[in-house]
Order: sequence, then structure tokens, then C-alpha cells
Amino acid sequence: METILIVDDEKNYLVVLEALLSPEGYEIVTADNAPSALRLIEGSDLDLVLTDMKMPGMSGMELLEECKKIKPEVPVIMMTAYGTIELAVEAMKKHAFDYITKPFQNEELKVTIRKALDNYRLVKENRRLSEALSERYRFSNIIGRSKPMLAIYDMIRKVAGSRAAVMITGPSGTGKELIAKAIHYESPRRDRPFVSVSCGALTETLLESELFGHEKGAFTGAVALKKGRFELADGGTLFLDEVGEMPPPLQVKLLRVLQEMEFERVGGTKTLKVDVRVLSASNRNLKETVADGLFREDLFYRLNVIHIEVPPLRERPEDIRLLVDHFIEKYKNDLGKEKIDLSPQVWKSFYGYLWPGNVRELENVIERAVVLNSGGVVELKDLPPEFSEKQEELDVDRFIPSDASLQETLEKIEEKMIRRALKLSDNVQSHAADKLGITKSLIQHKMKKYNILL
Ligand SMILES: Nc1ncnc2c1ncn2[C@@H]1O[C@H](COP(=O)(O)OP(=O)(O)OP(=O)(O)O)[C@@H](O)[C@H]1O
Ligand SMILES: [Mg+2]
Repeated sequence: METILIVDDEKNYLVVLEALLSPEGYEIVTADNAPSALRLIEGSDLDLVLTDMKMPGMSGMELLEECKKIKPEVPVIMMTAYGTIELAVEAMKKHAFDYITKPFQNEELKVTIRKALDNYRLVKENRRLSEALSERYRFSNIIGRSKPMLAIYDMIRKVAGSRAAVMITGPSGTGKELIAKAIHYESPRRDRPFVSVSCGALTETLLESELFGHEKGAFTGAVALKKGRFELADGGTLFLDEVGEMPPPLQVKLLRVLQEMEFERVGGTKTLKVDVRVLSASNRNLKETVADGLFREDLFYRLNVIHIEVPPLRERPEDIRLLVDHFIEKYKNDLGKEKIDLSPQVWKSFYGYLWPGNVRELENVIERAVVLNSGGVVELKDLPPEFSEKQEELDVDRFIPSDASLQETLEKIEEKMIRRALKLSDNVQSHAADKLGITKSLIQHKMKKYNILL
């Protein structure tokens, strides 16, 4: 719904205009002086300002100037009863969209408003298109040719065309948001907004008004009407990041919105309908959060119609080289450096490192090394200290008695490796088996043999 702010010091006029324009399907907000109009412009998402020229205190002309400073694209239509052509010309110079003289014909006003709103929609559409154009490179910006990444590209293409909810899980820094954007920009919704909201960063009340918006005066501090992310994402995609952190009372509300695609703003009574595709991400296994009673099962199934799991970087070492090349390319250009290589020791340390921060950490390490290296070769000293910690080779002479039996020693090592793999996989047997390169039934067999209980 398009929102129009009407500003006039004569309250009668506000009533008349609201009665005239509401039936046209616009949402009307009013102010009877320029300073409070300005606060509304600052704090809300308005599509048009219709303002009187002469007002006590701050004039319509000043309001126009201020409005162009904070929201240059929002169209402003000037109304004046004392319309001298000079004032109108001056307003047009200051980028008013148009002016009308009081008393005006209702039709004339409606047509001018329609023109301004259509124009504004086009301006926004164009901006989004050019942003989308650069964003669209992002799909090709997902780097990696490992098997799991190829499977993910395949999945992105398959799900992009549908409206199905996709949940993306994986440890921090593995590119979940990148994948969510790729789905959006590969989808028919690409020319509509991609709106992201982080569910973990806000308190329950703030998150609620962030998602659904609020009416002016809905709570202390709600000085202006605010559209929620659901409304802003209309026609496009809403990305719920860290969705597992969402407080349970909000989960109920979210479920309803997902089912019916309608909701009310906080403090509002009007029901708004939207068309939004929902993607979500979590770096925790939400099945466990469901089992612990912290995440609603019904909501989980709504969000998890399709599941994409992004493996940690250490499980796809074949992507490291491509990522390193990509990030070197990215950062060396910033510095105007020619060519940068990694020393063999650095490569070795990269393959042995566990990358707890995944691709994000790799990117940071490269950015830093590109700055610090001298002579175009990155050495261990250009990396954070954890990369220089020596990775000892298994020293048989030191650790294994010379009279040890081969069978017993191998079994001891085997048991230790299985215990460690289980620990690193949060006791998920299939993951531990994958890590060790064995089947799930084999790991179960060995667990029985060594009496390993979970
Ligand atoms: N496969 C990849 N190719 C190129 N860049 C990547 C890749 N994966 C991640 N990145 C980069 O790493 C950084 C982190 O990615 P992103 O924000 O998508 O991760 P995330 O999984 O959402 O992390 P978090 O759980 O911490 O929010 C970004 O700068 C992103 O561009
Ligand atoms: Mg993220």
C-alpha cells in the first residue's frame, strides 16, 4: 500500500484530503506543521509528501528542502492558496515533483498524485535493477568446485524457480547469506527486493516491529509509522538470518504469517497481505533446538521445506586454492599490487589448519597477508600466529614402544580417532563416519568393539 503524508496547518484541510484520498487505496498520514512532518519523513517509509506552502513557523518550501536532503527520491507536491507563480517556480527548482493551486479540482489532484507515485515506483525499480545487476554477479562469486559446492549450485538452480521455503544451515562464515542471495537473484523475484533480518541481534519487541512494522504511537518510542521487513520484501524474498535465535512468542506469530501471508503492524488493526518468499539460515542444527523445546516443530517444518547444508571449509580442502586465488585477486587490486604468491610453507599450513571461522576467516587471513607481505610472497610470518604452530608428524620412535604389537597399537589409535571424530561431529555418527572416510555401519561396528557409548 502506498503511503502519503499530507501537511497543512489547517486541520480542516487534512480531514477533507484524507477523506478524498483514502478511498483511492492510499494510506494517509497527516501532520499540521512542518517540523513534525519532517520527523515522519525521517522515521517512516513514505511514498509521497503533499504539503501546503504557507505555514506558520517552518514553511512548505523549507520542508521541501529538508525532505530532499534526507529522502531525495520521495516526491513532494506543493499546494498553495496564495500561489504566486514565482513561488511555484522556485519549488520546482528545488525539485518539487509538481504544484497545485488551492482550490483545486479533485480529479486534478488525484491525477497529479498518481503521476508522482508512478514516477517514484519507477525510480525505485530502476535503482533496484541496477543494484540487482551488480548483485547478480554474486552467483558467480560463490567460489568452490568441491563436490558439496557443486551439489549446492545444483540445488540453488533447482529451488530458485519455486516459492518453497529453504533453510540453509552450516557453521559461521561458510557463505549461507551468499547462497540465500544467489537463490533470490536466480529466481523470478530478482527484480523485487531481497530483504534480510537478523533474528538473533534484537530483543523480542524490537524484532517484532522490525518484522511486522508498527503504527505511530504503538509503544513508547514509536514516533512514526514504520513498515516491517515483511512489507518491504513484498513481491521479493525475506531472509531470516539466525532464525534459531527467534524468541518463542514471535515464532507463533511468524508461523501465522507464513501460513496466511497476512499480518497487522504492531499497534495496528488493518490486515496487510503480502507475497513473500522466505529463506532462513542457522548455524545450529535446528532439529536439536526443536528437541530441546526451544524452537517450534511446526515452524521448523514450514521453514525447512528444502534444506541446504553448507559443509565447513576443512571438509572441502579442494576449495582452498580457488578461494585463496579469488581473495588475493580481490585485495591486491585495492592496493595496486602486481602479483602475490604464497610460500610452500603457507600452503601446507592452510591445508593442515581447521579453519574454525571458515571462508570468512580465510578471507581475513588473505586480506591481512596481502597487506603485510613484502616482495610479493606471503610467508608464515604474514599470517596470524596459529598458522606457525608446528604440526608435528607422528613420531613413531618417540611415541610407540619398540616392542609394541602392531595390532594392539593400531587398535589404540583407531579407538582414539573414532572418539575424536564423534566429538568433533557432536556425536552424529554419520558425520563422524564421513570424516574418517568409512561407512556408518562400520563406525557402529567399531563403536561396539571399543565399547564407545554416546
Ligand atoms: N564460497 C564462497 N565464495 C566466496 N566468498 C565466500 C564464500 N563463502 C563465504 N564467502 C565470504 O565469506 C564471508 C562470510 O559469508 P556469509 O556472510 O555468507 O557467511 P554466513 O554463513 O552467513 O556466516 P554467519 O553464520 O557468520 O552469518 C562473506 O564475505 C562472503 O562473501
Ligand atoms: Mg550470515
